[in-house]
Amino acid sequence: MKTLSVVGTRPQFIKAAVVSRVLKNILHHTLVHTGQHYDNGMSYIFFNDLGISRPDCDLGVGSGSHGVQTGLILERLEKVLVEQKPDLVLVYGDTNSTLAGMLSAVKLNIPVGHVEAGLRSYNRNMPEEINRLLTDHGSDFYFCPTQTAVDNLRKEGIMQDVHLTGDVMFDAVLRFANDSEKYATVLSDLKVEKKDYHLCTLHRAENTDCKDHLKTIVEALVESRELIVFPIHPRTKKSLQAYGLMETLKEAKNIIMSEPVGFLDMIQLEKNARKILTDSGGVQKEAYFYQVPCITFREETEWIETVQDSWNILVGADKEKILQAIHAFAPHSKQRTLFGNGNAGEQIRDIIQARFL
Ligand code: UD1
Ligand code: UDP
Repeated sequence: MKTLSVVGTRPQFIKAAVVSRVLKNILHHTLVHTGQHYDNGMSYIFFNDLGISRPDCDLGVGSGSHGVQTGLILERLEKVLVEQKPDLVLVYGDTNSTLAGMLSAVKLNIPVGHVEAGLRSYNRNMPEEINRLLTDHGSDFYFCPTQTAVDNLRKEGIMQDVHLTGDVMFDAVLRFANDSEKYATVLSDLKVEKKDYHLCTLHRAENTDCKDHLKTIVEALVESRELIVFPIHPRTKKSLQAYGLMETLKEAKNIIMSEPVGFLDMIQLEKNARKILTDSGGVQKEAYFYQVPCITFREETEWIETVQDSWNILVGADKEKILQAIHAFAPHSKQRTLFGNGNAGEQIRDIIQARFL
């Protein structure tokens, strides 16, 4: 049996690393990189950090508008699928690479498995929400990270081949914990002490493409006077430069800016932060895994359990709410086992094996 995973962005390399490791042991598995992310710090650093072999194929689509990017992946991936003839295509998460991966495969009548299926923010202005909806409605197998995701699919009439596997990101955090302890150098590189800083990441279109939102968030970070480590996504860097906000950050004494970091460094930064400030999906969960309070620059989240459990607070791009949360937010309840047992990869493998072998 031949499986083929389509990846293209930073979080997808992490998710696919978990799945490809277990699949490779039992069947033929090919990794196709769409090229959506291409800077070393957003792409190939993860292949080194996570010990996965380089992709078998890089479509090299690069950046572009949603239409251009999705269209180019469709055009280039179709050729690979026709040539490789996989029995199953796996797509991950909710990016343009996910949607195009699903669409290329179903048009060729190749079954699709969606890893991280069933997530919803119910905000259709988010490009990711449209990607998730369409990917789920075109897929054949659903690997859901949470019970909420299973319930969301059910509400949309998707019942068959829906599997609650737990979250592959939780597997990743457990699996790479030792390597991170051993090899990460980021704390000494940035000269920060454990539990002496907050960590910030930011990249959602709703924040980076809106000058008011980005300005408000930057001002809140600076005015908080807390030491904040800020590895900056290339999209955010562009916007900070375009809106004249880079200078504000450079002049601030409490902000330590860096390039995006690799996964082993990132999990050190997360685990040792006092609080995490983010609009990332993956980082909200990792904050929960490490029991670090999370402040989310969004109005809603797909990872609603983390908010219900009081470990995550939604503050949007509201300066007062952000400052209040930085200074006073504190979780008040015990955590639950929300994201599985750290064997989501193995569960996905077993389901595929049972269906195809
Ligand atoms: C994409 C996903 C988002 C995911 C995120 C993970 C979509 C619609 N969005 O957002 O769901 O959370 O990846 O990080 O698929 N750029 C570079 N170098 C790179 C990559 C990007 O400079 O290696 C810059 C380019 O200016 C590009 C911009 O970042 O236009 C945005 O990149 P893109 O891949 O379109 O979206 P992300 O914001 O990364
Ligand atoms: N991440 C990383 N280095 C960084 C920022 C994030 O390794 O500088 C990791 C993070 O630990 C998480 C994943 O990238 O596992 C999240 O990716 P991102 O925030 O880009 O996308 P999202 O999860 O929002 O789709």
